[in-house]
Amino acid sequence: MPLRFFRPTRLLFLLFVLPSAAAPQALAPLAASGDMPALKAALPEGSSPDPETLAKPLYFAAQRGQEEAVRYLLSAGAFPDSATDFGTALGIAARNNHTGIVSILLEAGADPNLPGGEDLLMPLHQAAERGAVEAARLLLGHGADVNAGAVRYGWPAVHFAERKGQTEMAAFLREMGAGLAPVEPLQPAELEAADPEEGRVLAFECAGCHGMAPGETGTGQHPGPSLAGIVGRAKASVEGFPYSEAMLAQTGDWTAEELNIFLADPFNAVPGTEMGRGNQPDRAARVAIIAYLSSLAL
Ligand code: HEC
Repeated sequence: MPLRFFRPTRLLFLLFVLPSAAAPQALAPLAASGDMPALKAALPEGSSPDPETLAKPLYFAAQRGQEEAVRYLLSAGAFPDSATDFGTALGIAARNNHTGIVSILLEAGADPNLPGGEDLLMPLHQAAERGAVEAARLLLGHGADVNAGAVRYGWPAVHFAERKGQTEMAAFLREMGAGLAPVEPLQPAELEAADPEEGRVLAFECAGCHGMAPGETGTGQHPGPSLAGIVGRAKASVEGFPYSEAMLAQTGDWTAEELNIFLADPFNAVPGTEMGRGNQPDRAARVAIIAYLSSLAL
């Protein structure tokens, strides 16, 4: 028997299965296993349970692809937007590409843009990460925003797809309109007028990951390459730095204008980049940072 079976989550699952009383927590494993007679015995038709008690059963049924159980729980009053600490029922169904359930929940009125779980991901982010193209198609057909950023990190679906090497998904999302919003070009006078000292303070966030002196290695969980001489430097050119595939695929130099575009929205400018934060959507702040970066000699 595979060792996997003994993972604590599985054991917890078994504990839930044993008592078959109609207590609300007992519904979750019945829904997850798709045992309809047992589910109907525990939750008889016509009973009107508190819909909140159906959130977990709906989530686990959605996770396991138990279409009939999902239908039954909705008919018993479960909210289509039900969520557990792990996320929304729609999100987990989308992640696992259970298209029948995705359709059922959307038809029942589930919000395709509702974030859930610890990382507050929307269903499209979850589908993108797992390459669940058909689920993504359904979500987009029901009003999911192809360019919505995940609440916590601002990452759009295409970045989730590229990070996980889901190239088919990334191509599909681009076809559906994913991409960088136009960034207004920098004016030379604007850069001259910006205050590098203000930029230095704003770049403290950058310095949390990047070294600013030549050859200085960055710090933190996802250290970046040194930014010394970055304006005018060839992209992905620091010797020995383990750039992502996405960054290595970039060509040309980091001009002030290229930095303007990249920093406005790194996750759409270079989807799949290992730079997980550091986006600066505020134009004046971004220009000040670029003015400061221009002062960092190699
Ligand atoms: C969470 C850590 C982190 C923060 C914060 C961060 N970066 Fe980065 N940055 C990285 C990493 C990691 C890379 C390498 C990305 C890759 O290989 O995909 C990178 C790459 C870059 C590059 C490309 C470098 C090259 O050699 O081609 C530039 C430019 C850059 N960052 C600028 C900034 C600026 C400016 C800020 C602040 C506004 C910032 N970064 C904030 C981690 C960070």
